[in-house]
Amino acid sequence: MEIKVYKNAEEIGKAAGQLYVDYINANPSCVLGFATGASPVPTYDYIAESYKQGKVSLKGVSTFNLDEYCDIPREHKNSYYTFMCENLFSRTDIDMANVDFLDGNADPDEESARYAAAIKAKGGIDIQLLGIGRNGHIAFNEPGDEFTDEAWKVTLTQSTIDANSIYFDDIPMPRYALTMGIGSIMRSKKIIMIATGESKAQAVKDMIKGPVTPACPASILQQHGDALIFLDEAAAKLL
Ligand code: PGA
Repeated sequence: MEIKVYKNAEEIGKAAGQLYVDYINANPSCVLGFATGASPVPTYDYIAESYKQGKVSLKGVSTFNLDEYCDIPREHKNSYYTFMCENLFSRTDIDMANVDFLDGNADPDEESARYAAAIKAKGGIDIQLLGIGRNGHIAFNEPGDEFTDEAWKVTLTQSTIDANSIYFDDIPMPRYALTMGIGSIMRSKKIIMIATGESKAQAVKDMIKGPVTPACPASILQQHGDALIFLDEAAAKLL
């Protein structure tokens, strides 16, 4: 793991965003795995701004996203698909035909197999972006007894529901989601994690300094050969 500590979330957005811009310019048909949540937003802003300034094009880029809620339409304002459209895709020239997403309303087993085959057909994910939950989850892989492999249907924990229900003002927050599994995340050639704020400090410490255990799903990143961790000072506080 390579760990980089920045002053704040904005500085991380600039550094991680520039890394993406450089990578896309060098590899215009790359395959990127994206994440939702607050952590990647400054990075998406930087990429979108770079596109606006003519410094990068996402026309040839293919994308997969980590997870999607079950039991809400893809077009719902709180779906992760909508989040990605609003925060990145609609602000760039990405070809939506190259955007793939887990379908939270599909049969979970069939959807898992479809997603795995789609990722394989693109040659795998070059860079997977991740956040970390306060409980050490990555994507929606919550603390548990084993590391999962391919995409699967997860029952969200109370900690995750508490953290995310602030975004649901019209319908109750879904209790289930489809998520890429730990195996599918670990098969990405490079991983970039962004963690900001003091609420992530304990999870970050467990991820980096603790044992590799499904009780802290992010700890598996210790075994990835190319994992770059961007932290702000608050998230790095316990290291
Ligand atoms: P956040 O979520 O970026 O909104 O903090 C990260 C996560 O829960 O994985």
